Amino acid sequence: MAVLITGGAGFIGGNFVLDWLASHDEPVVNVDKLTYAGNLQTLASLQSDPRHIFVQADIGDGERIGTLLRQYQVRAVINFAAESHVDRSISGPGEFIQTNVVGTFRLLEAVRAYWSSLAEAEQAAFRFLHVSTDEVYGSLGACDAAFTEQHRYEPNSPYSASKAASDHLVRAWHHTYGLPVLTTNCSNNYGPYHFPEKLIPLVLLNALAGKPLPIYGDGQQVRDWLYVKDHCSAIRRVLEAGRLGETYNVGGWNEKTNLEVVQTLCDLLDEAQPRADGRSYREQIRFVKDRPGHDRRYAIDARKLERELGWKPQETFESGLKKTVKWYLHNTAWIEGVTSGSYRQWMQTQYQQDE
Ligand code: NAD
Ligand code: DAU
Repeated sequence: MAVLITGGAGFIGGNFVLDWLASHDEPVVNVDKLTYAGNLQTLASLQSDPRHIFVQADIGDGERIGTLLRQYQVRAVINFAAESHVDRSISGPGEFIQTNVVGTFRLLEAVRAYWSSLAEAEQAAFRFLHVSTDEVYGSLGACDAAFTEQHRYEPNSPYSASKAASDHLVRAWHHTYGLPVLTTNCSNNYGPYHFPEKLIPLVLLNALAGKPLPIYGDGQQVRDWLYVKDHCSAIRRVLEAGRLGETYNVGGWNEKTNLEVVQTLCDLLDEAQPRADGRSYREQIRFVKDRPGHDRRYAIDARKLERELGWKPQETFESGLKKTVKWYLHNTAWIEGVTSGSYRQWMQTQYQQDE
């Protein structure tokens, strides 16, 4: 028996695999296409661990997935694989439709064929957990209540529309075919192994390199931040005890404006690694052109998960951010590995940044 994780060389999937194997002996079959966002260095500590079976493959390759499911007698699939960056979905939406929509469809079909072939007791115990996002709910006004699981779907970017489509497919495969599915919709994650195209690691790396810290628009957009390991513990809990066909919102009640986040990061760096000239990293902040269709505010109401499954985050925003800053200051080899080649090209195109 094993669990099959897709996208396990990415930010959240990688953290999930590391945490899983730190506390379980059950093997993990890790299926990842290794796009620009996939990084085997994240999993370097598992290189000679027989419980970690890495397979470079596309979730859209149904035949390959079917073979793996049978070969390892998989009892649960956790689907992290996706194109995940909103800005990239604006400049090139095609891959988002291909992986997030078509890929999820093909994965569901491969899983359904395998699940249908299982004995009754194994079918009943099987789970397909789909990892999704709060962005499917659209944007909130300043005084609106946080997103509950009942909030209607109003995706605004090609990324969130593709994730919304995948959520609908997962729901339909449960209602139509009886596939035992669970869906989680989480808010913004941060923490170790976060690819530096996303706000928090990008600001940390740019700050240390003496580069501008780009804030889109007025910087007053609000995101609800959760430390990645708390997201992973929520997924483990939903996998273990979630009710079939249900969706669970995951969040840490940490709403912050982007400007607040960037200023806090500057302050933490001022303390941990002061600039040579003694001035604050805040001086590097620059307001730049806004993201087209930029959602104003996300906020997650995670009370269902807390009430039904007893989950609570371990980290506050302050403790999680401190750990994150420390991790980026101490893991220069990982950072060097991800900031070459295609990364530099992206930074140049998106920010007209000289390298
Ligand atoms: P990521 O971009 O860091 O990692 C995605 C991983 O999926 C990469 O390793 C990549 O190689 C792999 N992948 C991409 N296309 C693939 C394909 N066709 N087949 C197999 N593997 C493929 O993303 P992340 O931030 O770790 O997000 C993981 C999941 O969590 C995504 O589904 C995302 O929508 C969701 N999510 C992310 C956040 C967040 O704040 N990062 C919040 C809520 C939900
Ligand atoms: O809410 C969950 C989502 O969070 C996930 O589903 C996505 O996969 C994940 O990428 C993240 O999406 P965001 O668009 O919120 O994350 P990002 O880090 O790209 O941006 C966070 C906020 O910071 C957003 O309001 C845009 C802003 N921003 C981002 C970048 C990269 C800037 O102001 N400047 C920047 O350079």
